[in-house]
Amino acid sequence: MKLNKQDILKALESISVPGEGQNMVESGAVKNVVTFGDEVVIDITIANPSLQAKKKTEVDIMKTIHDLVYEKAKITVNVKVDAPTKSAPNVIKGKAIPGIQNIIAIASGKGGVGKSTVTANLAVTLAKMGFKVGILDADIYGPSVPIMFDVEHERPLAINVDGKSKMKPIENYGVKVLSIGFFTQPNQAVVWRGPMAAKALNQMIFDAHWGELDFMLIDLPPGTGDIHLSIMQSLPITGAVVVSTPQNVALADAKKGVAMFQQESINVPVLGIIENMAYFTPEELPDNKYYIFGQEGAKNLAEDLQVPFLGQLPLVQSIREAGDVGRPAALQTATVLEQAFETLTQNVVQEVVRRNDNLPPTEAIKITTMAGCSAVKK
Ligand SMILES: Nc1ncnc2c1ncn2[C@@H]1O[C@H](COP(=O)(O)OP(=O)(O)O)[C@@H](O)[C@H]1O
Ligand SMILES: [Mg+2]
Repeated sequence: MKLNKQDILKALESISVPGEGQNMVESGAVKNVVTFGDEVVIDITIANPSLQAKKKTEVDIMKTIHDLVYEKAKITVNVKVDAPTKSAPNVIKGKAIPGIQNIIAIASGKGGVGKSTVTANLAVTLAKMGFKVGILDADIYGPSVPIMFDVEHERPLAINVDGKSKMKPIENYGVKVLSIGFFTQPNQAVVWRGPMAAKALNQMIFDAHWGELDFMLIDLPPGTGDIHLSIMQSLPITGAVVVSTPQNVALADAKKGVAMFQQESINVPVLGIIENMAYFTPEELPDNKYYIFGQEGAKNLAEDLQVPFLGQLPLVQSIREAGDVGRPAALQTATVLEQAFETLTQNVVQEVVRRNDNLPPTEAIKITTMAGCSAVKK
């Protein structure tokens, strides 16, 4: 059998590229196809640097050509990893605010479900993929991002940018961080009102020198109150990710969280739900799963509410330990956890791309009256 390039390309068009909403040929991933007799050599460039992604690309290509073109074709696939930032323009056309392409709010109805843990691990995984990432820790009740990034004793410096004094975010593990915890005393939260929180966050965004960011993740306070309303209305949030555990009390609150984003006066697209602590896996029995908070509750909720389900994370001791020592678990390379976080992050990126392809940027309402803001004025 004599293979030809056209048939091969046609077959490759049936393979979609994760996170880009395009097929492999459209996305420009296929660099070269050479055929001779029943042999074909394909050069591919992919953005995802993980071994798993490389392997999957190779297997997908082989299987597709065997299925669609010739089952005995001898195939060589050369997979090259391109600097992921090169693929970023596909993702980052969000244009949330100048310099910051996408602002993702991480929310949970209930506290303690792992919102900050998820935020921290999504951030380091995005950074590993080559994206420019910042975290804004907006949890006035319990800012924990500084601890999770081992920067709790640091304070942002003021630097001069074009004649203006700007805060310089603290950077660790390739992620820039600003936290409300850098500026407040513990327990101050009780006196905060919505507009105050919104003003403080606006300052941490607009009076800070973030540089170019593909993603800014905002770790929101838990709950669905007036503080959230103010924060969400004053920022052009690209989309929201809701974190829940599978247990009923958390799910009820997650449902309220989704409803909050979808209400007319806020109207922030919900990118999806993440199920944290989906099951417990003991370190010494990695194949065992114990559904201590119930099974697939968040997954079912996502289906009920017709929002994407972004994936599950297990309850494992090392995630908690990593958070406490200030080095997010997703940084441990070649582990099951790293893979779980990669899958989750890819799903989030994919939903951001889909959202940006289908919807206009979210509008922010400019807050003009700042009643009650004196407490946070610099
Ligand atoms: N998947 C997980 N496995 C083990 N411990 C976790 C997991 N997710 C969160 N934790 C731990 O649970 C506690 C609460 O998580 P945190 O992210 O601070 O929640 P939230 O920000 O929603 O209040 C932290 O001690 C954290 O380390
Ligand atoms: Mg938290």
